Amino acid sequence: MHRKTKLVALTGAGISAESGLGTFRGAGGLWEGHDVMEVASPEGFRRDPELVLRFYNERRRAARRAQPNAGHRRLADLEAFYDMVVITQNVDDLHERAGSTHVIHLHGELIKVRSTHDPSLVYDRSEADIHLGDLCERGHQLRPHIVWFGEMVPLMDQAARHAMTAEVFLVIGTSLQVYPAAGLVDLVPAEASVYVVDPETPPVAPRPGLRILAEPAGEGMNQIYAELTAGK
Ligand code: OAD
Repeated sequence: MHRKTKLVALTGAGISAESGLGTFRGAGGLWEGHDVMEVASPEGFRRDPELVLRFYNERRRAARRAQPNAGHRRLADLEAFYDMVVITQNVDDLHERAGSTHVIHLHGELIKVRSTHDPSLVYDRSEADIHLGDLCERGHQLRPHIVWFGEMVPLMDQAARHAMTAEVFLVIGTSLQVYPAAGLVDLVPAEASVYVVDPETPPVAPRPGLRILAEPAGEGMNQIYAELTAGK
């Protein structure tokens, strides 16, 4: 049996846009009407925890109502042919619901909550809202299991190891404005093929084997799927 080629995908909010979930930098820098720092930073949470909880409760409900689109599905279909990892900056679970089995959520997950006191106390919370007064087993307020600005990105080392061993690397629907995630592209070996799918091409340094598809994720992934499975 021959070894499968290693394919790593880095995805961002743009892959979920066709599922009806808003991107972050789309609407004049506002995320669903809020300054990102107001709702995605520890300072924002300290200042107005109720607003932040309400915001993520709404995001959780919107993600539950949304369905995976062709971009998520085509990416998941590639698992039949490749040794594959999806590194996503998205907090929705649309990759999993499309069938991807190895997903690293760099910025956390809406369907989990954790203790504000001990980050290792993480709980599944796929449906119910989080309210002020909802406590972990040690009596501390629960918060969304989301990596906010200024916080550590615990899965970054794992993601970096995958990027460094990629033979094919896909960048789908991310503006590459947020580090350390954006730096993953620079770790990809020089001989790898790199594809970028985004109607507004993000800043990726020119390199041999770079293919830019200035398309929405669904259309772009249909093309890439056809190309990467031809003859397989
Ligand atoms: P952004 O909102 O910064 O970028 C979304 C990208 O998707 C842009 O480059 C758009 O051009 C592109 N896009 C829009 N519609 C698309 C479509 N139909 N198909 C493909 N691409 C499309 O989102 P991210 O790069 O994901 O972090 O943002 C990174 C991080 O910043 C997020 O994870 C979040 C945010 O603040 C946290 O919440 C911690």
